[in-house]
Amino acid sequence: MAFSHIVRFTFLLVLSASLVFASEPSPLQDFCVADNTSPVFVNGVACKNPSLVTADDFTFSGLDKPGNTSNQQGFAVNLVTVDQFPGLNTFGVTVERLDFALKGLNSPHSHPRATEVLTVIKGSLYVGFITTENKLFSKVMNKGDVFVFPIGLVHFQYNIGDCEVEAFSVLSSQDPGVVRIANSLFGANPAISDDILSKAFMLDKKTLDYIQSQF
Ligand SMILES: *[C@@H]1O[C@H](CO)[C@@H](O)[C@H](O)[C@H]1NC(C)=O
Repeated sequence: MAFSHIVRFTFLLVLSASLVFASEPSPLQDFCVADNTSPVFVNGVACKNPSLVTADDFTFSGLDKPGNTSNQQGFAVNLVTVDQFPGLNTFGVTVERLDFALKGLNSPHSHPRATEVLTVIKGSLYVGFITTENKLFSKVMNKGDVFVFPIGLVHFQYNIGDCEVEAFSVLSSQDPGVVRIANSLFGANPAISDDILSKAFMLDKKTLDYIQSQF
């Protein structure tokens, strides 16, 4: 085999391996409980000494308690990432509890590193996500229904029922990240220039200043 063929073959092998592992890398040991105090920068969090690990490292409590939805959006989320739950490190999962007051909204946002699977425990939600071709997939969810929000796509959940909503999600990353569209564009610090935002959203400066002042 000519050298250039070997190079090409190797490149394809590496490419296909990286496609297989397109989400988080598989663990190389039984566990790697996060040492959230470690000064070492790695892809993830450094491991705590395994001989010091206890069952408590694999336990998180408190998701029985509703979040405080007394805010403008009528919404609260308790996202339990590796920061709060060291045992999650390297496993590619996160859990969260979502609470919605009447007409509460989880505003349009995306998770750059995770697909989300949401289950409604109580109440009714109108949920949806928007594809890269701007197609909206939406659905009314009732108790016991499960919905999947594909990785990276903008999505929302809105309480359309006549009672508060309790829901839980699992996400396919130990640190899914949240990009809240309105906050990231209108609440950026330092602010994105008026020229850019007014042109992007076809807004006059006064309206733009008003929107920015809300964030
Ligand atoms: C909920 O949040 C509101 C607004 O910040 C606050 O006034 C209220 O005391 C909080 N309620 C509880 C139970 O923490």
